[in-house]
Amino acid sequence: MADVTLRGIRKSFGDLEIIKGVDLDINDNEFVVFVGPSGCGKSTLLRLIAGLEDITAGDLNIGGSRVNDLPPAQRGIAMVFQSYALYPHMTVYENMAFGLKLAKESKDSIERKVGDAARILQLEPLLSRKPKELSGGQRQRVAIGRAIVRNPQVFLFDEPLSNLDAALRVQMRIEIAKLHNDLNATMVYVTHDQVEAMTLADKIVVLNAGRVEQVGSPLELYHHPDNLFVAGFIGSPKMNFLQTEITSGSENGVTVALPGGAQLTVPVEMEASKVGDKVTLGIRPEHMLEHGGDASFPGDVIVVERLGGETFLYVNSESSSDMLTVQAEGESTTKVGDRISMGVPAVAAQLFRDDGRAFKRLERNPLADLTRATGGIHDSAAGMQVPSH
Ligand SMILES: Nc1ncnc2c1ncn2[C@@H]1O[C@H](COP(=O)(O)OP(=O)(O)O)[C@@H](O)[C@H]1O
Ligand SMILES: [Mg+2]
Repeated sequence: MADVTLRGIRKSFGDLEIIKGVDLDINDNEFVVFVGPSGCGKSTLLRLIAGLEDITAGDLNIGGSRVNDLPPAQRGIAMVFQSYALYPHMTVYENMAFGLKLAKESKDSIERKVGDAARILQLEPLLSRKPKELSGGQRQRVAIGRAIVRNPQVFLFDEPLSNLDAALRVQMRIEIAKLHNDLNATMVYVTHDQVEAMTLADKIVVLNAGRVEQVGSPLELYHHPDNLFVAGFIGSPKMNFLQTEITSGSENGVTVALPGGAQLTVPVEMEASKVGDKVTLGIRPEHMLEHGGDASFPGDVIVVERLGGETFLYVNSESSSDMLTVQAEGESTTKVGDRISMGVPAVAAQLFRDDGRAFKRLERNPLADLTRATGGIHDSAAGMQVPSH
């Protein structure tokens, strides 16, 4: 297996630059996921690694060697696409064996490799079927099998599950995670699916218009987005944003005004900011509290979605042109038309400058603080409900 490094990678189609200088380290055995909005260059970047597109500028190394000028077949990679592209007239076995036959491998070696892949992917009972006799998930497993038999150093996946229905996507997602554990392979995986990115990745790369916005573990990106783009992109439902301004700064953090007059001190560094600067306050739906918080502000409930385990409240507030989302408890009794108070725990709030960059946090160990704070809040919220029963 192998590491992959990208240094100053650029790609233009004609006059149009699509990949605008990407530096990235993908470690041996790492599972790296590219996410970003449609058209941001995820597939193009993957195709550059695969050798399916020429690199305009920069250096691509796989396993320590520069491979810019190597054809795809010599890069030690195997790619799995959204469309399975199986040969319809061949059986499952023949589909998986085809590439090895072309490479003139011996019959014994082919049998062994296809047999191993079929066992890993639980395709053994299906080896003599044709693609049309398979479900979507089974076909995608054959496509993955075709990649496995080549014993690549690096697997490249481009939205491999997006043609599958929701239930099958969950099942295949778990199978791909298992596959990564079993094969100890380096995997680079493109998706626009939040949950796939968060659950599969060791490292997520957030792309936007051909540039890397941030690289980090799923929880780093969730808790410490570098900027508004990453904050809004990672997490589902999306982070709420409130337009506000700085009312004071101290060693305890930066204080901002909430609609309705309350003040919230977010534990971040003031640095070069001044009182009166316009800032954006970010609060995730799961951190907005119907009861409690360090400060709260009012809003009108427009829509209520009850999912059983949790309830989503969509709320209009004067501070945001978008509807805000509050993830409330399953038992929440709030109805459409209610005016509610939305509580914000300071430690879970994020603050962004006018140019979109996140303020630097004050705490030594904010993750631990956040866990403690939100754990405590759930307790107190439950406690507050007891008397009404
Ligand atoms: N062969 C090509 N020729 C011209 N433009 C292309 C080509 N391939 C991709 N693009 C453009 O590059 C941009 C990024 O595409 P792509 O990498 O497919 O995005 P993503 O996979 O993130 O949705 C798009 O604007 C797309 O139209
Ligand atoms: Mg794509």
